[in-house]
Amino acid sequence: MKHRWTETRAPKPWTALCGSLAAALALSATQVHAGDPLAPAGRWEGNTSGSASTPPMGWNSWNAFRTEVDEAKVLGAAQVLVDSGLAKLGYNHVILDDGWWMKRRTSDGRLQIRTGIFPSAATGGPDGTSFKPFTDKLHAMGFKAGIYTDIGRNACSQAYDLHSPNLPQGTTAEREVGLEGHVTQDINLYFKEWGFDYIKIDACGLADFLPGSSLVKQQNYRAAPPLIERGSINRTDIAAVRSRYETVAAAIKAARPAGDYVMSICAWGMANVRSWGKDVGNLWRTSADITPSWTSMLHNFDSAAKRALYAGPGHWNDPDILHIGHGAFDAANPVEVRSHFSLWAMINAPLLVSYDLRNGPASLLAVLGNAELVRLNQDKAGHQGVITYDSDDAQIIVKTLGDGQRKAVALFNRGASPAPVTLLAMHLKLADGAPVTLRNLWTNERSSFTGEKEFMLAPHETLVFEASGKRALENGVYLSEIPGSINVAVDGTRQPQLDPTVHRMIDPWSSTRSGGSRPQYAGWGGAQADATPYGQSLQVAGQVFNSGIGVLSDSRLQVKNDAGHARLTASVGVDDSTEGKGQPVRFYVYGDGKLLAESAPVKFGTRAQKLTADVRGVKVIELVVRGPTTGNAQPVVSTWGDAQLTGSP
Ligand code: GLA
Repeated sequence: MKHRWTETRAPKPWTALCGSLAAALALSATQVHAGDPLAPAGRWEGNTSGSASTPPMGWNSWNAFRTEVDEAKVLGAAQVLVDSGLAKLGYNHVILDDGWWMKRRTSDGRLQIRTGIFPSAATGGPDGTSFKPFTDKLHAMGFKAGIYTDIGRNACSQAYDLHSPNLPQGTTAEREVGLEGHVTQDINLYFKEWGFDYIKIDACGLADFLPGSSLVKQQNYRAAPPLIERGSINRTDIAAVRSRYETVAAAIKAARPAGDYVMSICAWGMANVRSWGKDVGNLWRTSADITPSWTSMLHNFDSAAKRALYAGPGHWNDPDILHIGHGAFDAANPVEVRSHFSLWAMINAPLLVSYDLRNGPASLLAVLGNAELVRLNQDKAGHQGVITYDSDDAQIIVKTLGDGQRKAVALFNRGASPAPVTLLAMHLKLADGAPVTLRNLWTNERSSFTGEKEFMLAPHETLVFEASGKRALENGVYLSEIPGSINVAVDGTRQPQLDPTVHRMIDPWSSTRSGGSRPQYAGWGGAQADATPYGQSLQVAGQVFNSGIGVLSDSRLQVKNDAGHARLTASVGVDDSTEGKGQPVRFYVYGDGKLLAESAPVKFGTRAQKLTADVRGVKVIELVVRGPTTGNAQPVVSTWGDAQLTGSP
């Protein structure tokens, strides 16, 4: 969307508004003007287009074969998915990644397939080649078929796999196999003619074919001034990158008006995609490519795990395909394999297997086939696990299942030494004084505790339990328990800031040939469940909130009231951790577009104010915080403390 607050907001001089605090903040529903991104939309704006109501599952060729992919390998993997029962469990996408193309025919721009590795594509006739026989086969086996392309003119393999025998061939123009300049033609080819159902759209064409570079000169590519500068968010043209993906999204929708498609954005956490990916595609990569090392897995996990409020049914954070089967996650490392899988399941990551299943050990199939973990990942409500205890050593992640009555919890030892972890009923938002029952989802073992229970985790171990007990909030839910029902319409960040909380591994590509591994992905300052946008505990004028939503001023959150609750309540105020301690803000609650409740102006040190809104019959609740309107005032850290939906209709 081009009308984001950060990009179009006209600065209003604070002094002109500043007669009194109240006057300065007197904006209310009646005074909002057209185009104001904080104005309530009155309808759910979360992206539900396409077919990704739960995180996509299946198999992708990349980590198994890179560009050495071929038809037999892909169909072989598909057959194992069927034979092993994984397909039935939900692994129903088979996705062909980079390496399939031969060239773009210059006479009519039609893409040609490398038939040496995809023999069934040698259909002949005026079209030359076609993937229809291939997708027919996959469809007949019960799969959805996926294909790979690039948003620019050239693909990643053309920059990074130069040794490959399967790179596009021919003149400079013939080797321009990416979407640029051919969006409608290619999308129609993929979705209408060839029958693909899923597309992964990479972004190297916008980043790596730099004017004057030795790559461009040696390979005789057409240079492209970079829209994405991997090392600099400020030098990345965020709006242009987003708009490219929006154009493709529109073409896909037109090609598949019934919405039977999945659009996967692969911009590796760059260009602030962690904030807008949800509005454009069904999944978006939140980080660089995973490699089969423990620290790379941590890096990719963190890039998605801290973004629970940005995902939900129809739109998912994508920390990359699983690397199970390789390196630190091969069959000799069962603890790490289970951790990798458990973590992806808990944060609603796509479960895309990517090893050569034809030769894989049964123990790995058994991990992928853990129906309990798959069910957890595929839970219809789509609430990504929320990190409820955070540290660099160990984390506790809690995921609300279905109607909010059941929980899953993962205890995760990130480190190489044993870690003591104490799980509290409170971490689960269950009552302190009542028994909590745990069922281990790897062993099915049951246990119970009251108040708290100690665990000793082996290095790299993740324990996953289903937990039940008496809810702390008996007649409703805290909003931080239901991130899948929240859409962060406007998060209040003005200038994209890099997220320092993502594990900084030694970069596998540049190793230590630089000053350090730096934060890379924008999104710092985004809305958080049970924490402030900068990862602090929620606290207003000394009052601590264990539950709540932390957000910046000038934000608008949407909450679906699917369960038909009667009341929204929250204790609101400026968080004690804010910068700009003199700046006032005001909180508003809307129901289906109508103002239901508003706070007085509050600033740092003002006690939390209780807001109550009658939301009976309301479908979409919107929570708005308006802050100081001066162009250069810091956004104010604003807390919706104990924000909850209670009461039945
Ligand atoms: C990029 C992507 C990978 C894979 C390769 C293909 O690196 O991030 O997932 O698709 O390109 O070349």
